[in-house]
Amino acid sequence: MKSDTKTQSQSKPGARAEYGSTSTGTMPDYVHARSKRQKQRAAGLHPDYWYPALWDSELAVGEVREIVFWKRSFAIYRGSDGKVRALEDRCAHRQLKLSKGQVEGCLLTCSYHGWKYDEAGKVTKISHSLFGHKMPVVKVDAFPVQVRYGVIWIFPGDAALASERKLPEIPEWDENSGWGKISIDFTWKAHHSIIIDNTCDFTHAYLHREKKPFTHAELTRLESKGDQVELDYDTQVGQGKFSKFLVNRKTTDTNSMTLGYEYPYQWSSTDAKIKHWCFVLPIDERATRTFFLFYFAPEMLRIPGLPFSPPKALLKAIMPIAKRLLVRPLLDEDGVAVEAEQEGYEAHFEQPVPDLNPVVHAFQAVTIRKWEEYLTSRGLPTSLTAPRPLRENETATDAELAASAE
Ligand code: FES
Ligand SMILES: [Fe+2]
Repeated sequence: MKSDTKTQSQSKPGARAEYGSTSTGTMPDYVHARSKRQKQRAAGLHPDYWYPALWDSELAVGEVREIVFWKRSFAIYRGSDGKVRALEDRCAHRQLKLSKGQVEGCLLTCSYHGWKYDEAGKVTKISHSLFGHKMPVVKVDAFPVQVRYGVIWIFPGDAALASERKLPEIPEWDENSGWGKISIDFTWKAHHSIIIDNTCDFTHAYLHREKKPFTHAELTRLESKGDQVELDYDTQVGQGKFSKFLVNRKTTDTNSMTLGYEYPYQWSSTDAKIKHWCFVLPIDERATRTFFLFYFAPEMLRIPGLPFSPPKALLKAIMPIAKRLLVRPLLDEDGVAVEAEQEGYEAHFEQPVPDLNPVVHAFQAVTIRKWEEYLTSRGLPTSLTAPRPLRENETATDAELAASAE
């Protein structure tokens, strides 16, 4: 096969006429992935971090719910004391899901024979006969939980690391900060990396050509350091039909935006006055629940006709309206795109992807490296085939494109 990557990056040669030449099989898992793109789309997220499980408001006292982190199910429940706990979602007796059970006091009771689990995952009570046996010592895994920013977080990995892994500090989220806040989530049928690609890559302004959250983006800085990536775009922020009038351009510089990846979280800041965090709960290769926190400094907002920044109470009152009329419709556009990209990837995973924005490559490199770090730490293979060495004058991206087409 030719190694002219320019031709191959347009489309796989002959794809127009050769029925059967496109990918019709199942998309490859991580060890079978043959290109960086395939690895990216098969990678999980390192479990030794805090992940959003539910909004705090979604779990009442006495309730239990199932959540899934990377194909593993968890029973999250809130005891009568208001505290949230997380257990592996299986009864140690016959493996029924504990999330189908009942919360009794601060214990979680399996729905079948009624074995009761405490927050450490230990069976503490069996109400039926023990038939002369001693109380068996039976246990399932328990996971650290915390509640912050209106989100229930779980630590699905090595519990010993939970206290040293920190959530981002968001002082603006404090009730008394005076900042306007919008929490919103979506469960999209797309791999988490497709969503993170979307949030960091401003080349998709076309998708939002009517709403114009950002336009004419030019990358002016890109720095990767360890598990973090930071970048700046020169761009026009908030030029939509409504947002155009709501942003106070005198107090807020909307000509650039800083974005970051603090693995596994993504953020942005416009003049430190319009900010967001994006937290993903990777469900599996095809589904992700994404939690967004947006927050706005009071001085960035302007109400047409009002000669001063809106008072706190008004700012608070405006947020649900902004969420419904501006934020949700905008992110719905992204949702349609990321789900369509997932479908496209599954149908054509062997096609090379000529991504031009180096930001995408920088983010993907971190995601892949962290997943390999996890696999290696657990003694799991990362690949069945070693990548071939680079040819003369060939960049890693060239090699990736060539490998996809070979
Ligand atoms: S299956 Fe859970 S108590 Fe028997
Ligand atoms: Fe977008």
